Amino acid sequence: MALYAQQQIVSTLSILDLIAMKRAGEKISCLTAYDASFSQLIDLAGVDVMLVGDSLGMVIQGKQTTVPVSIADMVYHTQCVVTARKRAFVIADLPFLSYATAEMALNNAAKLMQSGGAQMVKLEGAHIKIIELLVGFAVPVCAHLGLLPQSINQLGRYKVQGKTFHDAEKIAEDAKKIEQAGASLLILECVPAELAEKISKSLTIPVIGIGAGVACDGQVLVLYDMLGISLGKRPRFSQDFMQIADNIPDAIQQYHQAVKQGSFPTVQQSY
Ligand code: KIV
Repeated sequence: MALYAQQQIVSTLSILDLIAMKRAGEKISCLTAYDASFSQLIDLAGVDVMLVGDSLGMVIQGKQTTVPVSIADMVYHTQCVVTARKRAFVIADLPFLSYATAEMALNNAAKLMQSGGAQMVKLEGAHIKIIELLVGFAVPVCAHLGLLPQSINQLGRYKVQGKTFHDAEKIAEDAKKIEQAGASLLILECVPAELAEKISKSLTIPVIGIGAGVACDGQVLVLYDMLGISLGKRPRFSQDFMQIADNIPDAIQQYHQAVKQGSFPTVQQSY
């Protein structure tokens, strides 16, 4: 038998697969990843999407916030993750102020995709002109609304967003504008479950929630929170899957299954 016929061919997921999952009502599982070893474990567990998040500033580098993370840090960790994955779709964060101008956004997206190997870049906020520009140059964009960790110095503390009628309307309107601007994916962080459900139903692009209730099209968690090894207090919306697992691969597998079955997050883990 020819060598290629003996090998199991695993193809990397594309944005079309994620859109098809939303249409079919299949939940999308996503975890953050920062290195090759975890990338391989997450990939083998069947998790659909890996996000090389700038949360690496906090969980890898031990910084107080994500603000100090550089584009060089993001490229390095994206390379590590992409090297070891076979199936999962990989998104990389554009760090703080790295998309402040059109030129910066294009240059830094090029670094994440060409040097890093990311399939999509993520940016925080409803930066419609920047999203249109990137999409116009064939850079797939994941937008991030709700709690924006890169804005922590303006916010003062990490807290639930969209609690008042006015704030909820603004997030819902921004989500619509982001879709119209050509973004392919939306991450909603720390918003009431009812608002996230309304947004997920009103958009055709997949909506991945973190602290946004079970009705989103998928879920993401920070890997180290989900393994119970993050520094500091774990957020209420997260879960330490090591408490119900025999080992790390089992914990990742249990998270993946819980997302697919819609048993994570629970009402207690939502706002
Ligand atoms: O950087 C990150 O890990 C993120 C998630 C919290 C969504 O943006």
